Amino acid sequence: MEELMPGVFLFRGYVNEEDIFNTIVELKAETPFRHMVTPGGKKINVAGFSMGQCGWYSDRRGYRYEKIDPLSNKPWPSIPDYLTEITGQAAAKAGFEDFAPDSCFINMYKPGVRLTAHIDQDEQDFSQPIVSISVGVSAIFQIFGEKRGGKAFNIRLNGGDLLIFGGPARRLYHGVKKLEPQSHPLTGDIRYNLTFRKAL
Ligand code: SIN
Ligand code: FE2
Repeated sequence: MEELMPGVFLFRGYVNEEDIFNTIVELKAETPFRHMVTPGGKKINVAGFSMGQCGWYSDRRGYRYEKIDPLSNKPWPSIPDYLTEITGQAAAKAGFEDFAPDSCFINMYKPGVRLTAHIDQDEQDFSQPIVSISVGVSAIFQIFGEKRGGKAFNIRLNGGDLLIFGGPARRLYHGVKKLEPQSHPLTGDIRYNLTFRKAL
């Protein structure tokens, strides 16, 4: 584990990508990746869906956590135990003792897709960190400051890496640079990212 800046911890090659890829393939048969829209009506280029007691959601009505998937009208699939364990253990190593995620958002990036700078701020308790796992081709994760612009701190995230941002970094702007065309034995040209949160 490396602390890259206060509250940002990187665990290189910490997870087995194949296990997580298999979980995603299983889940996406039931709960498809979808493009949501922002409250202003803009299409979000990163497709996603959730696991857990609640899932992050966005549409014309705003940003929020939903217990029922508005697309299927069913609860989100649950977070597999092995992922709750891995993320809880990593968080404890970084000093977040009682991290128990109730939500995980799974993002899918195709080549050319980027995630614009944002703050994760729809959760109840900002003393809880965000734990992020990457699968597939690599991407550049960018951490800005308390404002959207300015010089970014760049972190290349490879498949299998786990990143935690919490404490003083929990409410910093962050995003992902446009995904470069690359090839990965499991995922082809795709990158998946799973962000585990304690939302409620
Ligand atoms: C996010 O900030 O929600 C996702 C980050 C990532 O894809 O690495
Ligand atoms: Fe985020």
